[in-house]
Amino acid sequence: MAQVIDGKAVSAQIKEELKGKVAALRTEGVEVTLAVIQVGDDPASSVYVGNKKKACAYIGIRSLSYELPEKTSQEELLALIHELNGREDVNGILVQLPLPAHIAEEEVIGAIAPQKDVDGFHPQSVGKLCIGQPGFVSCTPAGIIQLLKRSGIEIAGKECVVIGRSNIVGKPMALLLLRENGTVTVAHSKTENLKEVTKRADILVAAVGKPRMVTRDYVKEGAVVIDVGIHRMEGNKLCGDVDYENVVPVCSAITPVPGGVGPMTIAMLMNNCVESVGLQGK
Ligand code: GUN
Repeated sequence: MAQVIDGKAVSAQIKEELKGKVAALRTEGVEVTLAVIQVGDDPASSVYVGNKKKACAYIGIRSLSYELPEKTSQEELLALIHELNGREDVNGILVQLPLPAHIAEEEVIGAIAPQKDVDGFHPQSVGKLCIGQPGFVSCTPAGIIQLLKRSGIEIAGKECVVIGRSNIVGKPMALLLLRENGTVTVAHSKTENLKEVTKRADILVAAVGKPRMVTRDYVKEGAVVIDVGIHRMEGNKLCGDVDYENVVPVCSAITPVPGGVGPMTIAMLMNNCVESVGLQGK
């Protein structure tokens, strides 16, 4: 029987740990504060932003909410970021993506002070991850490492295959697995003989963005399967990039959707907010 990796339980454990740290900081007179910026009212983004603010309230982090109209100019958004960069009472800055098409995401991400970059998207954060220096790490892949470690799954020496090469998940995931001494392959939409590549994996991370694409013929017997995808299907049912029912008989451990990787992303964002406290003024 495959171990079902319970992301809800692990994220709840991390949030409890963070609650304690935030309370301890408060007794020292530090109020951990996250500024959350949303431009426009994309419904999915509104749900994500709402969940992030709820998690802040639960843990005791103060959140400052900036809900800007769709027509906000890039200059106006950059001016707000510069203001927040300079505020001593703001520890973390999060700009929800995607941004409207008239705003250059790269410019905006690059404008956030690296010591407040709790999403881990700034080129300096990515560069530090790449060369093994401490810095903020993108929340979803950081959450996956926590899930593996807290489920007792060894990474060192293992064949790890990541399907997907996005800046937010695939690339940082590969770098983190490498940092944990995994043997890492990054596969993507142009990879030839994809099934042969993924069948080598002891740990397979699916971040492809295609519902139920990964079936058992992509998976080695006994592999650990991590599903980053989340898709709403007809009948309102959620599914991942992995065909769960098909894969579960062949793997040794698997993350469900929902309740696997998803809850970890917000837990790691909260973790990054707490870590950002020590970086202020640096
Ligand atoms: N949009 C989708 N995922 C994310 C995320 O992790 N952070 C931000 N800022 N925007 C997102």
